[in-house]
Amino acid sequence: QESTPYYFTDAAVARALIRPRLKFSHKGTFGHALLIAGSYGKMGAALLAGSACLRSGVGLLTAHVPRCGYSIVQTYMPEAMTQVDPHEEIITALPALEPYSVVGMGPGLGKDPQTLRVLEALIAQAQVPLVLDADALNLLAENPALLQKLPQGTILTPHPKEFQRLAGDAAHDYERLALARRFARKYQVVLCLKGGHTAVVFPDGTVHFNATGNAGMATGGTGDVLTGVLTALLAQKYPAEQAAQLGVYQHGAAGDRAAEQRTQTALIASDVVENLGW
Ligand code: APR
Ligand code: MG
Repeated sequence: QESTPYYFTDAAVARALIRPRLKFSHKGTFGHALLIAGSYGKMGAALLAGSACLRSGVGLLTAHVPRCGYSIVQTYMPEAMTQVDPHEEIITALPALEPYSVVGMGPGLGKDPQTLRVLEALIAQAQVPLVLDADALNLLAENPALLQKLPQGTILTPHPKEFQRLAGDAAHDYERLALARRFARKYQVVLCLKGGHTAVVFPDGTVHFNATGNAGMATGGTGDVLTGVLTALLAQKYPAEQAAQLGVYQHGAAGDRAAEQRTQTALIASDVVENLGW
């Protein structure tokens, strides 16, 4: 007997997923995340993802950014280390991956062919889970052979347009969900289909609708915040399914607290970062 593939992530479900920080833990316990993000004019995406990662319990964060981003990152988030790309404006080189327990890539990247080379190298070399978002997803959509090679435990976070580029057209929401279940099974990834009720789709095809979030979050940069949250949870060794379920819940809950403070109208993405934690 096959049971329903649909579930709902509410406060009780999310709370049960949270792992307490143990008394004798140290920063090594919580992982070292590498975030590859930003380009000239889009460094904000790297800052939002990076600060969200820092506010979500990561042990250490290194941001790999173009040269033009060096003092921006160092100034805005002194907690992060910075790895500078040889290129002034875009990402063209993959740093050595040994130190890292997770890699997040995508926010604010742009789609230069040199950046595609970096994504290809990352996918070929990574022995750790990845979070791929934004232009990393757009590059994947244009180079679908890469989808077959994604490392175990990868989370993809497309908004509806990005998902359409990855998986093709759907006539309506239900068809999109069916497409998403097929996609997650085929490539054995965790999909966060973002929207008013973000659906987290597991590699087994089950769908976990999220309870939190509000229309105030329909504003530039909130997606970048989610990338940072998920990257931090994977760094802490949450399995990809649970990281996605919990991360999407916490991101929406932070957005709900931010809207309560400021109203939905006034909410901006950095308010979501400010309200992370529980
Ligand atoms: N209700 C609840 N949550 C919402 C709502 C809503 N009505 N609208 C948006 N959200 C949430 C989504 O679930 C998602 O987590 O806000 C986030 C928006 O993420 P993105 O669509 O990726 O937006 P963002 O990345 O911030 O936009 C900036 O990045 O991905 C590119 O093409 C995108 O140019 C855009 C840029
Ligand atoms: Mg986005």
